[in-house]
Amino acid sequence: MFEHHPATTDRAALRVELLAAANALTRDEPDAMANMANMAALLMLYLPDLNWAGFYRVVGGDLVLGPFQGRPACVRIGYGKGVCGTAWARGQTQLVPDVHAFTGHIACDAASRSELVVPLFREDAVIAVIDLDSPVPDRFDSDDAACLESLARMLESRI
Ligand code: SME
Repeated sequence: MFEHHPATTDRAALRVELLAAANALTRDEPDAMANMANMAALLMLYLPDLNWAGFYRVVGGDLVLGPFQGRPACVRIGYGKGVCGTAWARGQTQLVPDVHAFTGHIACDAASRSELVVPLFREDAVIAVIDLDSPVPDRFDSDDAACLESLARMLESRI
């Protein structure tokens, strides 16, 4: 049995625990789908105040929904569309404190108020994004972005 339980409520400590748990769960497993599925579960477990956590993968000309936890979500997102498609097109993390103020935001869950999207790369091309949604406005900060970017670097060769 895997024992992955947050041992703290401190957000900085939770981010450290998340990265350690992610590494332990994925380092010896080559199956991309299994790793993304476990990562979605870990993100929900270790990061407070999320209503959606998961992956969109670049498949042909679209981002296509991958493993996630949360409500059912839109399946395909075009290049440059929404927060996810913007992260893909720019190849940059998108930290959105107020999704209602982001022109073109795609509302999959009406409860979402803030969002963090981080791209994953292989040979300089975006291969996927990690998407986090929160019902709390301004939920994410630069420390969350740095944590997710570390997670992205870890997972690029494992998904
Ligand atoms: N809000 C995202 C769409 C995906 S859902 O949040 C799961 C966007 O604007 O790209």
